[in-house]
Formats: sequence, structure tokens, C-alpha cells
Amino acid sequence: MTAHFKQDGPVESNRLDGMKQGVIGKALPRVEGLAKVTGTAPYAAEYQAANMAEGVLVTATITRGTVSSIDTQSVLAMPGVLAVIQDSRMTTRAAQGTAGQAPQQEPQTVSYWGQPIALVVAETFEQARDAAKQLTITYDAEEGAPLDPQAVESEAKEGQTVNQGDLAHAMAEAAHSVDVTIDTEGHASAAMEPHAAIAQWEGDKLTLYASLQMLNYNIAELADALGIEEEDVRLRAPYVGGGFGSKLGISEEAVAAAIAAKQLDRPVRVVMSRQQVFQCIMRRSETHQRLRLACDDDGRLTGFGHDALVSNLPGEAFAEPVLQSSHFLYGGDNRSLSLNVARIHRMTAGSVRAPGEAVGMPALEVAMDQLAEEAGIDPVELRLRNIPERNPEEDLPFSSHKLAECLRQGAEAFGWDSGPRTPRQHKEGEWWIGTGMASAARVHNVSEAKVRVSLIADGTALVRTDMTDIGTGTYTILAQIVGEMLGLPVDKVMVELGDTQNPRGPGSGGSWGAASIGSAAFMACHALRKTLAERVGTSEEELSLKDGIANSGPSLVELLDGKELSELGHYEPGDIADDYTASGFGAFFAQVRVNRFTGEARVDRMLGAFGFGRVLNAKTARSQCLGGITWSIGAALTESLMFDPNDGHLVNCDLAEYHMPVHRDIGEVEVLMVEERDPVASPIQAKGIGELGMCGGAAAIANAIYNACGARLHHFPMTPDRIL
Ligand code: MOS
Repeated sequence: MTAHFKQDGPVESNRLDGMKQGVIGKALPRVEGLAKVTGTAPYAAEYQAANMAEGVLVTATITRGTVSSIDTQSVLAMPGVLAVIQDSRMTTRAAQGTAGQAPQQEPQTVSYWGQPIALVVAETFEQARDAAKQLTITYDAEEGAPLDPQAVESEAKEGQTVNQGDLAHAMAEAAHSVDVTIDTEGHASAAMEPHAAIAQWEGDKLTLYASLQMLNYNIAELADALGIEEEDVRLRAPYVGGGFGSKLGISEEAVAAAIAAKQLDRPVRVVMSRQQVFQCIMRRSETHQRLRLACDDDGRLTGFGHDALVSNLPGEAFAEPVLQSSHFLYGGDNRSLSLNVARIHRMTAGSVRAPGEAVGMPALEVAMDQLAEEAGIDPVELRLRNIPERNPEEDLPFSSHKLAECLRQGAEAFGWDSGPRTPRQHKEGEWWIGTGMASAARVHNVSEAKVRVSLIADGTALVRTDMTDIGTGTYTILAQIVGEMLGLPVDKVMVELGDTQNPRGPGSGGSWGAASIGSAAFMACHALRKTLAERVGTSEEELSLKDGIANSGPSLVELLDGKELSELGHYEPGDIADDYTASGFGAFFAQVRVNRFTGEARVDRMLGAFGFGRVLNAKTARSQCLGGITWSIGAALTESLMFDPNDGHLVNCDLAEYHMPVHRDIGEVEVLMVEERDPVASPIQAKGIGELGMCGGAAAIANAIYNACGARLHHFPMTPDRIL
């Protein structure tokens, strides 16, 4: 049976809070943790298939043009080489942006340096790699491809422009105002597990082991790319070593492996090199942003302006949604917002973790810090004074709103000094010490989800969906939700993920995973409880389940009487999104040290206070926040994609040269989760968590750098050369 629920209104009942098992929200360790750390959880490239051949992708070395010839004959004579595959289906790029968008690329045309154009297949990886290097390709290159986003005409992104009142007038009349331009450089997703696929055909049926975030949608993409039916495709990705947006869509290794395996009639594995992942998967666009803020004597915003320029390849639908939270975070009657896209020939820009707010929020929050200074108001206080009652552009209520609590509780826990904030007041040896803060905001998303929950005759539960766990804790939170609802300890709930033979989940992305799939599981459990209640002779509300026993009477095993009981939970986001603005909120506080002689900045201490609805697992939620804060530190100080101005190729294409923070770069980090139930966000009253930790955090560090040494920087990352 199907337990379908479409959310058109708030769900006020705290059903999960009333249960007896007591596992929901608990800081339980990951159920698959042991398998992962002992190396027994197989990742995409680790499956064993008999007679498997190895494929290596060959990428373009021109910026724009067409491939005129590939000299396959010479490499086919090399030892072990089986095939050189050029196939337009392989190079027709799948959507790497948001689900449903389909960017275009004609066969054999090249739009950026690094674009995959062929696959060399051999008996061993080394043979394939060697042959791929020897392959001679000639191009018909088109000169003069635009590469600099600020040197070309840009186009306005539809649906992003807002003009309310008269911002210019508000700026002119303001008691205090700020007008700043801030640049952020591109980011890489840099998931630990590179993109990889193993393709295996049985007749017309394809099984693909892959590293993907969104199997529910990737299956359609892959079928479409190959020109086959979805029923003939099975995707498997039970373990995924991080995605950060880079695995939302399928990419060339998956299509190439499938085509090669069909052609050679044997399994084929294609693993991208770290450099290929960097150079051809996707980038977060650099941004060029202008912030205009006007306020009265009391620091109340009268004008709010945010204009952003981002870039992407010609024809790509995705544009980094920089303004996403700017639309509703603060008040101000006179508003002007715009998002423009420059068409350039760098690699595809797509959704990199927290698309939009990851770079929009830091810029906004640096401008807010400057306004606080102009107005002589404590920066925490300035934000408190500007929290709007309702969405200032759409006049909608907020679903729930914990920004004020996060600011207050965060300030208190951090020991925020609300006194005067003149820079260069604290020195320790050769270091200037300073503090800074910023707000956090990230829109809440949900997505349709299906999951099958079964009670097995032995009294255990089985949860099945094609949902993924990309390192975020899906296995564990599903075991907790189902365990709580059905009165079972977590080790009696088996969770099976990452297989498209199971019902379609929401996929992992945009922080929508847990609330969406969790709600579907919740619905299935509700229905199962109804049946169990009937068998006990009570109502669902009165049914109490704990440790496999119902109402201190019959056990689940007895109630099941040798037969499995199964329900399909189906959750659909309803019209409620039209009636409310739903977002996670928070506040960051940072203490930094800046070296007086070298300009080196170090984050000594950082605190994030977040309100994101019900916390399903205090440990995995905290881990998400820690990861986000770590990326905040990277975005503030080191992370930057660098493109060659001559041909647009990504220069720093590995983890040695793209500087992500390592353990030594992270000081003391504290996470404070502000208790919240959001009846609008999802039936389980949870909101998205994953991305919020990096939505504004870089500004807390930038503002602390200013407070420490007096360098007001408008360019992320704030490397020593910029600080000095
Ligand atoms: Mo998300 S952009 O899939 O980390």
C-alpha cells in the first residue's frame, strides 16, 4: 500500500516527539561507519567484475572549436589497447547544474579546454593511460573565445531582478550608507572520491556502479544520453565519497563506460583523474558583487541593493544564484537586486555546495559590517534591528525564524564584546588579534520522495529507497526515524540505499535530502502503525511501541504472525511553498590572528549557532556544520580556482595547488544547535542542514581580519598578498 502525503499546510503535531523509543535526535554514530573506515564499504571504482577493461578519458587542449581528426590507428597498435571511442552521446554533456536543465553541446565541438572528447580502452589502466597520452588529435580552433567575465557583455538572469521603491534616493537620503564592490573567486567541489563508473551489460540491460548524488534523476539522464529506456538501466551507488554538487548530474565517465562496455561486450571501468575532476566536472562561478546599504540613525535599513555578475559557458542554464537569501534576510523598503551572467569559455559552472549563499552571504555580511561601523552600532545589534517580520519582497510569512536567537545565543557562547570595535587594539607578539561575526542564511528546499518500509516477520524493519548517502548520514537518520516510529532499536532497522531498483528518493543535494526522505519514511511508518494498532485493538494515537513490544503486550513478531507488512511512503512538497518563506538561519563568530609581517591570517576560534528545524541526529548534524565551517575558512583564506588568461584552462587542478583547509588550519570550532520545530518545512519539521555552515562564515573571518589589523578587504580569498 502507499501512504501518500502532499504538504499543503503546516504540520503542527510533534508526532516524532511523542514516541517511546527515544532514538530520534540522538547523537548516534553512523550505522555504516565501521564498514567505511575498515574499507569494506565498496565505492564506485571498487566493484569486481570479471574480464573488466579500463577506460581513460582524453580531454581537449583547445578553448573553442571542433575536433578535426583523431589518429586512432597508431594507439590501437599499442599493447593492450582495445578501442578508441568517439561518440557524440559521450560528449553531449549532461546537466551539471540543477535538475531538469539540459545544456547543449554539439558533437565534436569543443567549448572549453579540458572537455572530454574521447575514451581510450585497454586491458589495464596503465596501458589505457599511456595510449590516451599518445593519442594525436588535430583541431580546428576558433580564436578569440571570451574568457574574462568582466570583459564581455552580460545578460540578465530571468526572474532575479527586483526593483522596489527608489534605492538611489534612499542612498542619497540615508543617515549612513555603504556602497562596496566585492569579488569572490571560483571554488571546486573537490569531493574525496573522484568521479568513477563501472558499466556492465547483460543483453540490453545496463548496470552502472557510479558515484552520484541523485540516482532518481541520474537514471533518466543516463537513459536519455544513451538513447535507451529507463527500465533497462540500473544504477548503484550505496556509498558515495562526497559530492558537494559535483555529482548532482551524470558526467562523461558514466556515459563513456556504458558505451564502451556495450561496444566491447565486457565490463568497463572509467575513473577520472583528480585533474580531470577539477578541469571538466564543474566550477563554482567567480562573482563580482555590488552591495548598497542605506540606513537611518538607528541603523534600520531603508535601502537594500545587491547586484551580482557570474559566468558560465554559452547556452548553460545555470547561474550561481548569488541573491537567493538577500531577497529576504533583511528589511529595507527600497530594494534593487539583479543577477547577470557573462558567457565565457571556462569549464561549466554548476551547483557547488550551497550554490548562491556560499558566496552571496559573505559579500552581504562584509557590507553589513561596514554599515555597522559607519553607523557606530554593534554588528550583532545591527542585524537584530533589521530582521524583517515578513519576506520584504513577497510579503510572505517565514515558516520559522531563529536568526535572532542564533545571534543572541551565539554572541553569548562566544563571549562577544559589544563594546567599541576600533581595529588594531590587540597584539600578541607579531600577531594582531581580532573578532568578527556574520549572519548565516540558506533557503530550505524539499523534493518528492518515495521509500518502502517493511516490517519483516522476525520483528526487524527494512527500509529501501534509491536515495544516496554522500557522507551526510542518510543511513543513520532513516534508521532513527523508522526506529522511533516503530519502536525498534537502530540495529534492528536495516537501510538499503543507492539502488534504482528501490523506490525513488529525493537524491542528495541542496540540503533537501534528510527532510524529504525522512518525511517519506515517516509517512510509511504512520501507515504501518495504523495496521499494527488495529491488530492490537487500539488507535494509532494510542499505540505505544518500544523495543519490539506493543503497549506492554504482544511483540511485533506476534503481531506480524509470520507475514511481512510493508508500506510505500510517498512525500510530496505541496502548495505550502507558495505561502511561506522557509530558510535555515544562523550566526557565525570568529577570532583570528593576522601576522604583522607576513600577512598570514589564522582562525583561532570559530562558533556557529544554527536553527534548522528538528535535528534528526545531533552528531551527523554537527558534523555537517563542522564541514561547512571548514569550507567557510577555505573560502575566506585559501580556496580559489585559477584560470589561464590565454586559454581559460584551470591551472590549479589538484589538492596540492587548490588549497583546501587541512587539519592544521582549523582552530577551535564550536557548533550550537538552536532547538526548533518547523511545521512548514516538512512533515517531520526538519529543514536542510548541510549547506548552512558555509553561508556567511567567510564574512565573519573577513570582518575579524579587519578588526585585527585594519585591512578591509573586498576580495575573497584573503591571501597574505591581499592582506599586506
Ligand atoms: Mo549540493 S550543491 O548538492 O552540495
